[in-house]
Amino acid sequence: MRNFDPLLKTRCKMNDFQKAILTGIPDELPVLKPYDTSVSHAPKRKEILSVEEKRLALKNALRYFPAKHHEVLAAEFAEELEKFGRIYMYRFRPDYKMYARPISEYPAKTKQAAAIMLMIQNNLNPAVAQHPHELITYGGNGAVFQNWAQYLLTMQYLATMTEEQTLAMYSGHPMGLFPSHKDAPRVVVTNGMVIPNYSSQDDWEKFNALGVSQYGQMTAGSYMYIGPQGIVHGTTITVMNAARKVAKPDEDPFKGKLFVTSGLGGMSGAQPKAGNISGVISVVAEVNPAAAQKRHQQGWVDELIDDMDELIERVKKAQADKEVVSIAYQGNIVDVWEKFEEAGVYIDLGSDQTSLHNPWAGGYYPVSLTFDEANEMMANNPEQFKKEVQDSLRRQAAAINKHTARGTYFFDYGNAFLLEASRAGADVMAENGIDFKYKSYVQDIMGPMFFDYGFGPFRWVCTSGDPKDLEITDKIATDILEELMNESPAPIQSQMADNIQWIKGAQENKLVVGSQARILYADAKGRIRIAAAFNKAIEDGTISAPVVLGRDHHDVSGTDSPYRETSNIYDGSSFTADMAIQNVIGDSFRGATWVSIHNGGGVGWGEVINGGFGMVLDGSADTDRRLRSMLFWDVNNGISRRSWARNEGSVFAIERAMEEMPELKVTVPTLADDELVRKFFK
Ligand SMILES: NC(=O)c1ccc[n+]([C@@H]2O[C@H](COP(=O)([O-])OP(=O)(O)OC[C@H]3O[C@@H](n4cnc5c(N)ncnc54)[C@H](O)[C@@H]3O)[C@@H](O)[C@H]2O)c1
Repeated sequence: MRNFDPLLKTRCKMNDFQKAILTGIPDELPVLKPYDTSVSHAPKRKEILSVEEKRLALKNALRYFPAKHHEVLAAEFAEELEKFGRIYMYRFRPDYKMYARPISEYPAKTKQAAAIMLMIQNNLNPAVAQHPHELITYGGNGAVFQNWAQYLLTMQYLATMTEEQTLAMYSGHPMGLFPSHKDAPRVVVTNGMVIPNYSSQDDWEKFNALGVSQYGQMTAGSYMYIGPQGIVHGTTITVMNAARKVAKPDEDPFKGKLFVTSGLGGMSGAQPKAGNISGVISVVAEVNPAAAQKRHQQGWVDELIDDMDELIERVKKAQADKEVVSIAYQGNIVDVWEKFEEAGVYIDLGSDQTSLHNPWAGGYYPVSLTFDEANEMMANNPEQFKKEVQDSLRRQAAAINKHTARGTYFFDYGNAFLLEASRAGADVMAENGIDFKYKSYVQDIMGPMFFDYGFGPFRWVCTSGDPKDLEITDKIATDILEELMNESPAPIQSQMADNIQWIKGAQENKLVVGSQARILYADAKGRIRIAAAFNKAIEDGTISAPVVLGRDHHDVSGTDSPYRETSNIYDGSSFTADMAIQNVIGDSFRGATWVSIHNGGGVGWGEVINGGFGMVLDGSADTDRRLRSMLFWDVNNGISRRSWARNEGSVFAIERAMEEMPELKVTVPTLADDELVRKFFK
């Protein structure tokens, strides 16, 4: 790839950005850049490699470069490995600005590849990404690539590929272009796939430090992140339905209700905005002053308080006046749970969104240490740090238990809080010793109300980068949802209504950060109708450029995750991952433009297999055919599995789908009589 320059002739007409993309890894070493302290950086990773393994990591990194540079780069990369625990190859970070440009600005032979380049750049945009220079989009470790050489090479491959080729991505490493055909995905992404027995947290640390694997989270390594909007939407519908669930029949479910949680990071920063949209009072604790201040300055949270007494007074006033307000507490969440209990502050709804999928490397800060002390200890005394985290989790759970005894509704919000608290020996287990005391948001809300009916985080990106296109797509989607609402059966009416309200308020709520993107929850019918209408509008010029369709992996079919997406599967199959694998294979031959399958994401390495897709709508008849086939499978695969697990909503939904699509024939379960079963195995 290095010496191959197929577009040489047209190069002279290109701008610097386009030339840089086509150059890939430059033959001459770029100037070494100073470490930029103006952006957030990933914490130093734990010391995990032996001396022999460090040499192996160095050899692995050097294989991207010609031998003439090895002497300089070996010294530099060795220093990075010692200093940061990883080799990021900072020198090769491009000089051009990193953001999603309009699709027409990418040098490419196919719009499909150009759209993928746009999505990659969005995931690395410093306004969007958590640690942009370490190529981390969110969640502390959600990587797009492991190092800058992989980025440069991937962009070069994308710029030169045709629709008769497919790019194979191995955990950020572009293995290369392989001949395929126009209906095949342009890119197939695998992230963090390992032999199952080698999936402990330390295995990830080691493979990642060696440069052979990465944690793709969900939408980071699959190029489908759309800034905090996705999680604002998910959190809004979760908070709204949690509030409705615990409200007494004659009271307003939202007014004056207090929601307490933690985290103002990549995803968790969406919580106060969702609290405001839902109409509650929210208090979000954030231990990192930079993160708390950033969210406050960006307008994601209304007020910032760092004094506990002041916080308690402020919250009592907001409760008395039934205000809609979001408050960031700059401090540790454990203190909030404990002090609110002492001060008699009643909490209606409680959750947690610290990064407990990554408990030992900066995801969770123990209450016993200051922020700086914690950062120092996790790198230099990891064993002691682990003890402090576990002690803090036990304290947090004990305080939460006191609140729930008084009536607080606590739910696990998919960050592995209950899992890690239980591993720390906290009092979070139910009497049967198998289940947790508290339900996850999927068990109580998202699963039975949304996933089981096929509702999931459908999203799109207007590749023109023009807000007008986004406005047009919003209008098309609203009209279709309203049309569908009239034909919807009773069990899905409220889901439709909440999403219509969401999309109508989306422009006003100014949710776009980075690319011109939108999210809403729709079922298979809704997704197909909206996608087909977009494709038609591109064909007739109403929308000015292609639209990328995708979804979060946090969905009906794409993810097998026993502590989150599939936590409401009760037939014993929640620890299997057939659904996610079936899904990605099925999407890939039904017309997805790119597909991805990941180990880790959300709840942690080894705890989940999740997959997703991207599809470029270009207004063509081929696209119309592909979207109908792929979206139908992408949703109904999961509904059929959930129905087989005897989930009531899914049995209803799959029977409805079979009535409408005669070619669909799904095995449905026969329910056994519990009385009969109980007679056996006494
Ligand atoms: N439910 C969902 O739909 C969903 C979606 C995305 C992510 N998640 C999960 O939520 C978690 C958070 O994701 P993120 O992307 O925001 O991660 P993040 O690492 O960007 O943010 C977490 C924040 O929590 C703060 N924090 C850690 N310990 C704290 C403590 N004891 N007190 C106060 N603040 C503390 C950190 O400083 C950090 O800013 C992850 O585990 C992620 O996997 C859930």
